[in-house]
Amino acid sequence: MKISIIGTGYVGTVTGTCFAHRGNDVICVDVDPGRIEKINQGIPPIYEEGLEELLKEHAGRNLKATADYDYAIANSDISFICVPTPTDASGKIDLRFIREASRSIGERLKNKSSYHVVVVKSTVVPETTEKVVTPILEQASGKKAGKDFGVGMNPEFLREGKAVYDFMNPDRIVVGADDPKAGEVIRKLYAGYTCPILTADTKTAEMIKYVSNSFLATKISFSNEVGNICKLLGIDTYKVMEGVGLDARISPHFLRSGLGFGGSCFPKDVKALVGKASEVDYEPILLKTVLEVNERQPLIALRLLKKHVPDLRGKKIAVLGLAFKNDTDDIRESRAIPLIGMLLAEGAIVTAYDPMAAGHMKNVYPNISYFGNAGDALDGADACLIATEWGEFSKLNGEFGRMKTPIVIDGRRVVNSDIKGLIYEGICW
Ligand code: UGA
Repeated sequence: MKISIIGTGYVGTVTGTCFAHRGNDVICVDVDPGRIEKINQGIPPIYEEGLEELLKEHAGRNLKATADYDYAIANSDISFICVPTPTDASGKIDLRFIREASRSIGERLKNKSSYHVVVVKSTVVPETTEKVVTPILEQASGKKAGKDFGVGMNPEFLREGKAVYDFMNPDRIVVGADDPKAGEVIRKLYAGYTCPILTADTKTAEMIKYVSNSFLATKISFSNEVGNICKLLGIDTYKVMEGVGLDARISPHFLRSGLGFGGSCFPKDVKALVGKASEVDYEPILLKTVLEVNERQPLIALRLLKKHVPDLRGKKIAVLGLAFKNDTDDIRESRAIPLIGMLLAEGAIVTAYDPMAAGHMKNVYPNISYFGNAGDALDGADACLIATEWGEFSKLNGEFGRMKTPIVIDGRRVVNSDIKGLIYEGICW
């Protein structure tokens, strides 16, 4: 099929490249000339495992990038809106880019005679496609949705770092459409996938995305709550969750307790669902608590640290791990951010190391000391906090010998707690 992708961020680039790899002709649209040039040269604007190889294979062949909406809409049958949906100052979803993209597509649909389907892939709160996107498309095109063109919603379930794998091997595909013809076109695009393909109306598809992320976030906060209780009872919560996760109805995934969840999705999506619920006059107490438990975890880490180092003034504390999870340089909503903030507020001198994310953290905390390896960050430290589950932290050993006092507060259960001489505390174990 002929596809246009609006927005070449993480979702757009992965979606466009993977659709090209599945044999479609793809045109990516962006306003940023730098990004367009990079994509046309086969250089991904973001890092994702396996993406560069695929983009190199298809750029200039069946995938091209352009700023030209006229060309993109005229030469495609289906457009995916993949623009960012940030949260505004009040915590509500900001639909500015969704509106702009809808208007730009709608203006081009005005002169298009063949049937075209517009699909929202960005994460948007329920009713956005129906009540924001469709009316703008109709107004800008002067045509009727469901008759002259189709509208759909097809949420993404891509983990950062594993997005290409997840696109190619999904657990399920959700096709949202308010008219059957549009739904049929979107389903055709996914022909050949063996996973279940669920069809729903657009607001249900939008809700499925929020509920999936909110449920996973709930599993994490639940595990953290249990972990906090286990810690006080002297029980290993990881053993408990291993036993719990063996129940097929529960599953062993997303039960790792620790510092809590970060990233560009879970915190934002749970907050947006809380916001949407209050709009319809419902108080989502469970979801609010999921966020509260998450906010509290870094505080618990600090409390544990102060058990060993009661006065942090002038003490050198090493923070290992700055990214919101391992294998990414993304620090959005990383639990390391509040953690470092609290350490600085207590008067500590913070040293930090992360294999990939230090560059970004320098914009948030320019005045802490960053090191190129864990050993140097630990040198002379009074204690250390582990904030990200990087695999290399499980191999640390002699490096702890460089600390003034080898106290480790592990927020991610990665450090080997059996190392001789180590004063080890797991946050929930
Ligand atoms: C998440 C979802 O997993 C994807 O399915 C979804 O498509 C994506 O959001 C999105 O909405 O675009 P992602 O944010 O990349 O993906 O990261 P995850 O791997 O889900 O991890 C999120 C956070 O939860 C990390 O901070 C991680 O450390 C934490 N986590 C995860 C735990 O604390 N415990 C766990 O057991 C699992």
